[in-house]
Amino acid sequence: MSVTNKHVDFFRRKDRLLNGGGNKAVEKQMALGKLTARDRINALLDVDSFYEFDLFVEHRCRDFDMDKRVLPGDGVITGTGSIMGYPVCIYAQDFTVAGGSLGLMHARKITKIMDHAIKMGMPIIGINDSGGARIQEGVDSLAGYGEIFYRNTLASGIVPQISVILGPCAGGAVYSPALTDFVFVVDKISKMFITGPEVIKTVLGEEISMEDLGGARVHSEISGNAHFYARNELECFHKIKQLFTFIPWNNKRKAERYPAKPPKAKFDIERIVPMDSRKPYDVRNVICALCDNSEFLDVHANWAANLVVGFARVDGETVGIVANQPMVLAGVLDVDSSDKGARFIRFCDAFGIPLITFVDLPGYLPGVDQEHAGVIRHGAKLLYAFSEATVPKITVILRKAYGGGYIAMCSRHLGADFVVAWPTAEIAVMGPEGAANIIFKNEIAGAPDPAEMRRQKVAEYTEKFANPYVAAASGHIDAVISPAATRDFLIHAIQISVNKSESRPYKKHGIPPF
Ligand code: HXC
Repeated sequence: MSVTNKHVDFFRRKDRLLNGGGNKAVEKQMALGKLTARDRINALLDVDSFYEFDLFVEHRCRDFDMDKRVLPGDGVITGTGSIMGYPVCIYAQDFTVAGGSLGLMHARKITKIMDHAIKMGMPIIGINDSGGARIQEGVDSLAGYGEIFYRNTLASGIVPQISVILGPCAGGAVYSPALTDFVFVVDKISKMFITGPEVIKTVLGEEISMEDLGGARVHSEISGNAHFYARNELECFHKIKQLFTFIPWNNKRKAERYPAKPPKAKFDIERIVPMDSRKPYDVRNVICALCDNSEFLDVHANWAANLVVGFARVDGETVGIVANQPMVLAGVLDVDSSDKGARFIRFCDAFGIPLITFVDLPGYLPGVDQEHAGVIRHGAKLLYAFSEATVPKITVILRKAYGGGYIAMCSRHLGADFVVAWPTAEIAVMGPEGAANIIFKNEIAGAPDPAEMRRQKVAEYTEKFANPYVAAASGHIDAVISPAATRDFLIHAIQISVNKSESRPYKKHGIPPF
């Protein structure tokens, strides 16, 4: 073949592969409101930054007439590129090719790009749109999944791992996203479940749609499997880009520093928290009143909303925020919020992101449901995660800090580096009402006017403990500061923490209460 013919042959082969599963399959994909795998990569990455790996890979299955089938790229597109200049490794399953099903070579392409990400210290993004294990390839596809899960675990804490569910992600396939740091879902497009509606109907006799079983809302509001919800694919890519501005490329680098910006004037820190400790408010307003440009990226925004976690900046530096949300269930800790907090704290700690904790909670949620759902086991995860974290830990007690909640929300006793309280803080074993009922039970019962005696005893307890000064007198908190002084305090704390280094006794690894 002449040189010219070789070039013609090259472009002919390449063009055929770039067309994925062909026009009919692409039309079907688009009719479902979905972009193609290649369009997704192009929409997410910087223009012309994608460098593709393994376009010419071919499957090796010979059974079930598979030897007669050409599967372009074996149903997955992999490569490197950049997002706003940040280098990334990426793979996108191509549903137009055999339903994006995962065969041996498909899996090998993914594990190759994952190995590359770990070696090069680059985040990895996986776009999932697949019918699951390629049925014709049998155990080879199962092996492929196992190899991916193994690398998800190896990469954990080394490079950020992001999963985007843009189609079906069924059966054991869901465990790769579940092992990654952030899962994005899109309304009406994402479908994620272990056993599909057909199996459920056969085994349990129950009818349920895919959407109600494992759609985007289910995972972002009920199960907590998804961290970010978007209305469409483009909004989803926008959110991924926003996340990238806050996180570092790998665990050896710091997150990018941005020019510091003051919070927006509309958030008045003096007016957000009501004086009456029973009145709710939105703690996200406190965060916005204190952080640069009032910009806050809410992680798991719609799940376990009694705890708010997410990224912001103080003095241009990324910080991880953990805050009780008095607007939802009075900000109590429970099974789900403990899981949510613990996972987020461990991400921040692994990637060197300082933690700022805002405290306002009456304690753990009481009740049989919570006890039986394992609030002891799950609550312990939060204690473990805060205690284990060695990044700078800064705690601001806004209002209530009662009981186990006081300890769990990054108290000095769990290794916080700075603990301050506002004058409105109430630090005690429990709220004055509950406390008076227990410790003054006999006085109240024996009084000529029990209601009046109760009122007096509540006032007595409030006077004694519903303030920050008892804790300050013992050195459990470092200072009482005004809301207006809080941003300056946070900037100071972040600036002087830059060289924090804390080592722990050697161990292979701890045993968190998973
Ligand atoms: C091989 C598959 C496939 C699979 C889909 N296809 N899933 N091929 N293995 N797992 C093929 C179809 O044959 C079809 O090929 C094309 O992809 C498009 O599929 P459709 O069914 O036409 O699409 P749609 O109607 O949109 O339905 C999508 C679907 C459905 C809901 C995902 O295809 C489906 O239920 N697939 C099977 C899902 C499943 O049970 N997977 C195994 C899970 S078990 P043609 O040639 O007609 O275009 C598993 C174990 C992993 O994954 C364990 C890891 C530990």
